[in-house]
Amino acid sequence: MNAFKSQPGVFVIFGATGDLNLRKITPALYNLFLDNWLPHEFMIIGSGRRSLTDEQFRDSLLQGINQFSRKRPADADKWAAFAGRIFYQAADINDPSGYTAFGQRIKEFETNCGQEANVIYYLAVAPSFFGVVCENVAKNKLSNKIQRTRIVFEKPFGHDLESAKALNASVSKLFDEKQIYRIDHYLGKETVQNIMAFRFANSLFEPLWNRNYIEQVQISVTENLGIADRGDYYEQAGALRDMVQNHILQLVCLIAMEVPVSFKANEVRNKKMDVLHAIRKFKSKDISGLTVRGQYSKGTIQGKAVPGYREESKVDAHSGTESFVAMKLNIDNWRWQGIPFYIRTGKRLQQSASIITIQFKDTPHSVFPKETAKTWQQNRLIISIQPEMSIRLQLQTKKPGLEMVLNTVDMLFDYNSEDAVHSPEAYETLLLDVMEGDQTLFMRGDQVEMAWELLMPVLKKWQESDPDEIPKYDAGSWGPEGSDSLLKNDGFHWFNVNELEKKDNEFKSI
Ligand code: BG6
Repeated sequence: MNAFKSQPGVFVIFGATGDLNLRKITPALYNLFLDNWLPHEFMIIGSGRRSLTDEQFRDSLLQGINQFSRKRPADADKWAAFAGRIFYQAADINDPSGYTAFGQRIKEFETNCGQEANVIYYLAVAPSFFGVVCENVAKNKLSNKIQRTRIVFEKPFGHDLESAKALNASVSKLFDEKQIYRIDHYLGKETVQNIMAFRFANSLFEPLWNRNYIEQVQISVTENLGIADRGDYYEQAGALRDMVQNHILQLVCLIAMEVPVSFKANEVRNKKMDVLHAIRKFKSKDISGLTVRGQYSKGTIQGKAVPGYREESKVDAHSGTESFVAMKLNIDNWRWQGIPFYIRTGKRLQQSASIITIQFKDTPHSVFPKETAKTWQQNRLIISIQPEMSIRLQLQTKKPGLEMVLNTVDMLFDYNSEDAVHSPEAYETLLLDVMEGDQTLFMRGDQVEMAWELLMPVLKKWQESDPDEIPKYDAGSWGPEGSDSLLKNDGFHWFNVNELEKKDNEFKSI
């Protein structure tokens, strides 16, 4: 039951003139409005440094919706009804006096509604401002109704373990953990949420979901885009902070976690924490054997020449920042001992695809003569998160005909055949969860710290190295050479999207 919906609601968005609000937050709120998920009485206050009229602000949001919303273009009447609840408040987030204006607006709104409102503060600002916004919100007594106030943090939450701890400590002095929502937009993706449904709503896979039947797991999140105009952010982040610390480790948790007792937020988060605890810590001497980094040089993507990382705007010409990471993780618990989890992510790679592949062990003995099974392949379960949204189970079957010939076929669940057009965007799911007070898909403070702790030795080692030592890869390739060797040493190779995505039920050799 959505208690938020039955009461007046206010959204205060800090950093409201930024890209994230235009592309994601407001389009998500607008779609929730269209689908009747927002409270009957609601108000959105956007705040930024620039001075804008309400009208100018609304126009910029409309442009964002018309460009980025899954339900674009906006319907004129519906937009007018939505836009009438949006206001702009110019404020310097460092200046406490600016916050009194929010308080006044919220009070007026409550008086008009004749009822207290629930308030969500959304911090779509650089992490360095998280602390000051929280302090000013608290100082102005804008957050003291614990049940009625929530605060949402965009990633990255911290820059390293020390800063994440400091941030958690300062935020938790002002807010209860129940009020805090640390966003990892990957967890709001339909296909990512379905991992839990797939694992915990089917009895079929659980008996096989362990070291006895699974040989290796690969989690590959590749992008063919570069860093666009985010050079200043990316230079400070790199692929390890940008993708591994949050999105990819969360995917590892979803695949490796034990079955929770219930779907309650803390039950799920406890089980994920256990995975993070069980991932073997990196010892300095092992880092070079277990991790690979890389930086793209110029190359060609889909027939177009693209510049190298060091030539991108706002990037140091001698930068040592990694745009590619591959790692082998070992999970020290009964379920996964000895089973490698290979993870990989990078910019400007050959194809954009987020895919989890679970390769099962081979049959203990083959009863068929070799020539009948030329394209023999171990069973694989392929969870494709994007752009294809599907789950494939690859099996060996007999090719129809007079001869006994074995071949690999797919059993396919394709979201496109199942109302995918109606699938909400990750931000819609997550914003609705914030409203409903459901923290299942959000990172708890201890999870964030544990993820940083795990990666600190690697970050430190890479930071200490000479920037020119970073291995290079051509834009449009599958990453640096070391990435292939990481798996080759174990007798494996990366499953790239073109190998995995066969046409359903066609008898094709791999
Ligand atoms: C963001 C990263 O968190 O995730 C980006 O900062 C990355 O660098 C993006 O491109 C990928 O998300 P998605 O949803 O496009 O796969």
